[in-house]
Amino acid sequence: MLQLSSLTDLPSNIPASSVLVPTMGALHEGHAALIRAAREIAGASGSVVVSIFLNPLQFDRPGDLADYPASLEEDLALCRSLDVNVVFTPSPAEFYATDHSVRVSENLLSRNLCGAARPGHFEGVCTVVLKLFHALLPSAAVFGKKDYQQLAIIRRLVRDLFLPIEIHDIETVRDPDGLALSSRNLTLNQEHRADAPRIHRALLAARDLRETGEQRSEVYLEAARHHLLHDAPAGLQIDYLELVDRENLQLLPKVAGPALLAAAVYYDDVRLIDNVEI
Ligand code: PAF
Repeated sequence: MLQLSSLTDLPSNIPASSVLVPTMGALHEGHAALIRAAREIAGASGSVVVSIFLNPLQFDRPGDLADYPASLEEDLALCRSLDVNVVFTPSPAEFYATDHSVRVSENLLSRNLCGAARPGHFEGVCTVVLKLFHALLPSAAVFGKKDYQQLAIIRRLVRDLFLPIEIHDIETVRDPDGLALSSRNLTLNQEHRADAPRIHRALLAARDLRETGEQRSEVYLEAARHHLLHDAPAGLQIDYLELVDRENLQLLPKVAGPALLAAAVYYDDVRLIDNVEI
């Protein structure tokens, strides 16, 4: 496995056609599933490239960036064990010139959910992902459905900017108790970690209303809110709970077609997101 930590190592060391898994490090089983999917797409003779870059541009709270876990040695060992061909670990100083002045924005799919709750977040994501695509020239890239809005926005970025890259997705990977895997789970205290599966349970309980033929969004949202807040530990706060159209991610007054019920929840300063398709 080749580790490239500078842009000057590119592109002579980058395989002609590769499948990229962009990450911010602190890799876990969810990333391993992305890497395995990338290997399936690339085939035995193709190349899998993993980028590990904690992108400062997508953090709206400085404390969140400072608290983000890092484990480069373990990350590299995991990549090695999964037969990754190249790991790209640029430094922020090299990745963003001190006077960098170009950013990429998306203006429709990012209006709600994390786009509204974290101003500037998706501008940071679109900018870093486009730069990674240009630097690494992959033919395909893989993203997880836990970050459903991110996935939809990256598909839109690729469509609207004519990028010759196939975007693949994988289902959310969960711990046995239902909690969606996230690098942030490592920063929960014991009580909050034990409680956090309630997010998935709340979304599932609301989704079950579909079986009754219920269409009113407020009924789904109220059911999920009830499960999120009932007997909740101190420190739990709902950041958002929204029902949106699965295609354009606009708020839905009624569940009549494919919908997404999504939540962001704070446990003290740790922010977790999850979603279910309805
Ligand atoms: O999902 C993530 O880990 C990040 O948002 C990404 C896509 C690697 C961009 O920094």
